[in-house]
Amino acid sequence: MKLSFASDRPQTFAADSVVLFVNHFDRLTDPRLRELDKATGGAVTNLSESGEFTAKEGEVTTFFRPEGYRTDRVIAVGLGEKKKIDADSYRRAAGVVSRHRSLTQYKSTVFHIGPVEDALVYQAVIEGYLLGSYKLLEFKSGETRKSQNRLVNILFAIDNKRLLKRLQNAVQKGRVSAEGQLRVRRLASIPANVLTPAGFAQEARKLAANHQSLTCRVLDGRDIAREKMGALLAVAKGSDQSPRFVILEHKGSRAGQKPVVLVGKGITFDSGGLSLKQAAMMPEMKGDMTGAAVVMAAVGAAAELKLPLNVVGLIPLAENMPSSKATRPSDIVISRKGLTVEIFNTDAEGRLILADALDYANEFDPQVVIDIATLTGGALYVLGYSGAPIMGNNARLMDRIRAASEATAERVWEMPIWDDFRNAMKSDIADLINSGGKPASTMTAAAFLENFVGDWPWAHIDIAYVDLEPKGRPYIPKGNTGIGLRLLLQLLSDWKKL
Ligand code: BES
Ligand code: MG
Ligand code: ZN
Repeated sequence: MKLSFASDRPQTFAADSVVLFVNHFDRLTDPRLRELDKATGGAVTNLSESGEFTAKEGEVTTFFRPEGYRTDRVIAVGLGEKKKIDADSYRRAAGVVSRHRSLTQYKSTVFHIGPVEDALVYQAVIEGYLLGSYKLLEFKSGETRKSQNRLVNILFAIDNKRLLKRLQNAVQKGRVSAEGQLRVRRLASIPANVLTPAGFAQEARKLAANHQSLTCRVLDGRDIAREKMGALLAVAKGSDQSPRFVILEHKGSRAGQKPVVLVGKGITFDSGGLSLKQAAMMPEMKGDMTGAAVVMAAVGAAAELKLPLNVVGLIPLAENMPSSKATRPSDIVISRKGLTVEIFNTDAEGRLILADALDYANEFDPQVVIDIATLTGGALYVLGYSGAPIMGNNARLMDRIRAASEATAERVWEMPIWDDFRNAMKSDIADLINSGGKPASTMTAAAFLENFVGDWPWAHIDIAYVDLEPKGRPYIPKGNTGIGLRLLLQLLSDWKKL
């Protein structure tokens, strides 16, 4: 994809198409539409009077060969009611046009955004386009493996020439964040017979090889045993696939600066172990490494954007399987920290691997630690598919995450960690039990993790279910959403000392 920039009126571009992003209208006040109306013998007026096109959200219409335009087609896409329009309206509109034949059948287009100066809008438009047009093709064969999308050149028409540099940067940032999010979607969609813990670690090594500022270290089963990560080992035991622990570092600042540490849950397949899951939802559990993929892609994007801070990604990887070698419900294990855990339910495995990873974070003297995980099915009953519950121990860090959430339209909402939830995680015979049962399971899981948190600000993001889109939305096709990447990248790119 080649991205370029110019500032001119829609009439002047010779690309295969020009896309106008327009507000919902009753009367033709947008000068671009008035000129288009004249150039089409009143087609815009006719369409709006008949109610066929008034630029409501999601509406798209194509005008062929307007008089005096150098392009063959002008595509108008609706943003909805002016009062309600924000950057995500543009992301959604770009998502809708991203699959439109008038775009995908030809090589070049122009995105004509109008007199908008907000950099987040320009970032959102390229994100919406790249995210909306995503399709996983690598598991198809023959002709169906080839992309049907021919578009390779997008030119951004920028109204105010003086803003060129700033808006160029915004588009570049949007491209990197969207590509990061697509990396997450891809990894999460690859089935577990292909993407094993070792395979995932290999992907991290490949990523690191492509960036100067990145280093990647991988602990194998023996290293993990030497580290005494008993909780991670307990989860991996039932599988023939041996676990891995990936340490992916972006060194963007001086060596002494304390890093931001990101921790991602990397269960390449969650069968539930001996506490076996039901068959119907099990296929989705190939995506139980989405947190890990978000962390890997976020560190990669931080490197690509040359962010001036140190970031460490910690990624525990294992496959949760039943077998005669598997951990039994009731087994007691010793975590890296030394706390003993009664494994009451082998399906509550995510918190076990995160426990050892959170403890390992102490090795990096972090300024803050954020973990992200498809941790609890109960998250569906907290915020549905609409947002991710967040929990933590520091109000300022929560404010930062909220601000990043608002800027990126990846929604989060804070839930509490109460003593009731902490008490639910106490075992009669060990220090902790790994399952507090169904009630408030999202929050009791966080209460469990809290035991492994050091003397630093910490936040936990539960992306169970919001990582999966059941139907398809403007820029989120059915399947893994890649949620969390835009949020974390925004947080990192705005980072200042807490
Ligand atoms: N990976 C699952 C959580 C999950 C479920 C993610 C559905 C996405 C969709 C996690 O390992 C799990 O099984 N959690 C259990 C914990 C329970 C046994 C305390 C759950 O939430 O049911
Ligand atoms: Mg599980
Ligand atoms: Zn899981």
